[in-house]
Amino acid sequence: MKMLTFYFSGHNFEYEARNDLRIFDLNIGYEVKLSGKSYNDTGLAMVSVLNDDGNSLVSTACLYLKDQLLFRAKYESDEIFLESADSKRLKKILVVKSIHSVLKRYYGVNPEYGILTGVRVVKILITALKHGKTKKETTKILKDTYEVLPEKIDLLWEVLDIERKYVNEEENKQNYNLYAGIPFCPSKCSYCSFTSYTGAKEAKIDKYIDVLVYEIEETIKMALRRGLKLHTLYIGGGTPSVLNERQISVIFDCIKKYYDLAEIKEVMFEAGRPDTLTEEKLMFLKEIGVNRISINPQTMNERTLETVGRKHSSKDIVNKYNLARKTGFDWINTDIILGLPGEDEADVNYTIREIIKLRPENITVHSLAYKAKSELTRQSEELRKDYDLIRKMYETVKKECIGSGYIPYYMYRQKNIKGNSENIGYTLPEMESLYNIVIIEELETILACGLGASSKIMKQDGRHVPIRNFKSLEEYEGRIKEILQNKKRLLFDEKEII
Ligand SMILES: C[S@@+](CC[C@H](N)C(=O)[O-])C[C@H]1O[C@@H](n2cnc3c(N)ncnc32)[C@H](O)[C@@H]1O
Ligand code: SF4
Repeated sequence: MKMLTFYFSGHNFEYEARNDLRIFDLNIGYEVKLSGKSYNDTGLAMVSVLNDDGNSLVSTACLYLKDQLLFRAKYESDEIFLESADSKRLKKILVVKSIHSVLKRYYGVNPEYGILTGVRVVKILITALKHGKTKKETTKILKDTYEVLPEKIDLLWEVLDIERKYVNEEENKQNYNLYAGIPFCPSKCSYCSFTSYTGAKEAKIDKYIDVLVYEIEETIKMALRRGLKLHTLYIGGGTPSVLNERQISVIFDCIKKYYDLAEIKEVMFEAGRPDTLTEEKLMFLKEIGVNRISINPQTMNERTLETVGRKHSSKDIVNKYNLARKTGFDWINTDIILGLPGEDEADVNYTIREIIKLRPENITVHSLAYKAKSELTRQSEELRKDYDLIRKMYETVKKECIGSGYIPYYMYRQKNIKGNSENIGYTLPEMESLYNIVIIEELETILACGLGASSKIMKQDGRHVPIRNFKSLEEYEGRIKEILQNKKRLLFDEKEII
């Protein structure tokens, strides 16, 4: 395996340096040596030095190969403009910018999101505006400090324009969003990293639902005691539509004891796999109060569907989609993935055109994320190809969507994502999913139930405290009381909470 040795002096920002290296190369190994000014290395070495001369901070990075200097970069604190005064952050940014500058030249790639590696990019804009920065100043921070490319900055403002109407601190603090996870699928898709079980017997699913319903009910009781208002309900997975009508009823009956679903703006049920849908099930979902579903093609190319193990054809997608329309669903999402094995720009072009013909209200575009290190078989040389390919696919999808009246309404990034791109949701006007916006921008409390589910409790000062449920079925089912205790502690114990 290719290796890079970091030599740090004046700082120890290993996490940040490694994340920056991962933007460029998912295959390279690295080690860190804290050093003085000297080093002796026979391989690839990055010497990163941070100096404080009393007036300003200076960061330099030099990349050497077998003692020969390849590239050098230098940044001073006077050149950096941040959304808030934070000296530790300033130091990190200085170090990362110099390392990034050197890696950009070494790999010959100019990453679209610059030095940003976090998930929530639009949140940077929301935070800067909250700190009193103007649009011009915020754009300058994105461009000069974080080195985001202009077309991505435009995208971020466009997304914020849609999201803006949901940013209302007082209201956001009163709301909560309930998530229930169903970790079962009809078959495993080769690219998928979500925890899910295939081929589960009815009894195993029933046992899980018993525990889930207990968690949902106890969670709702806590939310009510805290005076929180239910904003959206999201049944996700896995594939919730593997459940039969009886199992679905058990979940909804429990929620309906406390809420009239007709009054909840968004009641989402992921029905992603067409091979789990029948006319009866769709009608049942409609009657029970679901107002938004997803039917996910991922791709409309038969060959790829087979390669990734989807076990349904593109015709099944169209048929089940039309059935859902016939049943009365007027808010349908479709997920696609860019960068699936063997696909090129023309395949993606075909997929998006076929989907747009159906006129779903939402189209969510994911860039393929590599699920495990072992699968990252690409060589560094191929990275440039990934960047170019994903960029072309992204442009194709954007052109088709915008040209057909869709607008981008939320976006987020992931680690280990192909082409270091983003995931982006398009919507027909006024049909955006609130749940997607509030979860990605961390606007409101999310109370999540089920295996591996992630809750976020919003504190009075706007911080979000995460709680993660156990990821193994045995632990989730066996330690549910502990999970609820944890939720209760975070919702009630401290004075500072909501
Ligand atoms: C939790 S999955 C549930 C969807 C549903 N079970 C289905 O298959 O249609 C949500 C979405 O994540 C996306 N996804 C899953 N694995 C991914 C990966 N490795 N890279 C990019 N997107 C991925 C897919 O588009 C998928 O529809
Ligand atoms: S993509 Fe959907 S159906 Fe496929 S394994 Fe992941 S959650 Fe299950």
